[in-house]
Amino acid sequence: MAAVAAVDAVAGAIPSPNIWRFPDVYEVENQAVDPELVIEHTLQGIRPWRDAAILDIGCGTGFHLPRFAARAHSVIGVEAHRGLATMARRRVCHLRNVSVLTGSAQRLAVPDHSIDVAHARWAYFFGPGCEAGLRQLARVMRRGGVAFVIDNDATRSTFGRWFQRALPTYDQGQVDAFFARHGWDALRRDICWRFERRADLEAVVRIEFSPEQAEQILAEHVGAYVDYAITIRVRRY
Ligand SMILES: C[S@@+](CC[C@H](N)C(=O)[O-])C[C@H]1O[C@@H](n2cnc3c(N)ncnc32)[C@H](O)[C@@H]1O
Repeated sequence: MAAVAAVDAVAGAIPSPNIWRFPDVYEVENQAVDPELVIEHTLQGIRPWRDAAILDIGCGTGFHLPRFAARAHSVIGVEAHRGLATMARRRVCHLRNVSVLTGSAQRLAVPDHSIDVAHARWAYFFGPGCEAGLRQLARVMRRGGVAFVIDNDATRSTFGRWFQRALPTYDQGQVDAFFARHGWDALRRDICWRFERRADLEAVVRIEFSPEQAEQILAEHVGAYVDYAITIRVRRY
């Protein structure tokens, strides 16, 4: 995959330098995340994908879309970066039940009450201040539908420690309280990054952290495995 331009995004996009600048390294990251499918099993345990209309908000290059499409009735990916939306479209062009829209969480071009499962993974645009996106979710979700936001947990695990150290002002309690006020439950789960090669882990750490932070992490961490705590936020409609 070729690198994408950094300023090719719609209004309301939250800059995501990792995937905007390095989509091929981000692909390696996605391949290493959660090899035991903890996230998928948790989501499907709450709302199976079979025959569902699924919306993936901030779908990036569309990594998760084929997995949804294998079971769902229909899948819509929404991506704020035009170059990434094009890549996502290319990825799913052979799948008849998937479409990709260029757009934002704050302005979803999706009909009212048409979605059974909404999914937003590593979605910086869903955090304190994202009320416009939450209103859009309330509009598009069907009665009985479930929305999921897959988020970091800065309070636990090796990755959580790296994340909190890189963002010392990030306040997990404040983020949790924001979502709880808007009717979301929080499930704590433990996943991992499992890379085939140490060089892949090094490349991914270097797109996720500043140069100084990355070198510190790589100096103190051995191997190609990282334990990683997450929060799965769940809202029922
Ligand atoms: C860290 S990436 C994760 C991509 C994808 N969910 C995945 O797991 O591979 C976050 C994505 O959200 C997109 N994004 C940023 N702001 C957005 C917004 N307001 N609405 C929709 N997508 C947005 C970015 O362009 C980026 O592709």
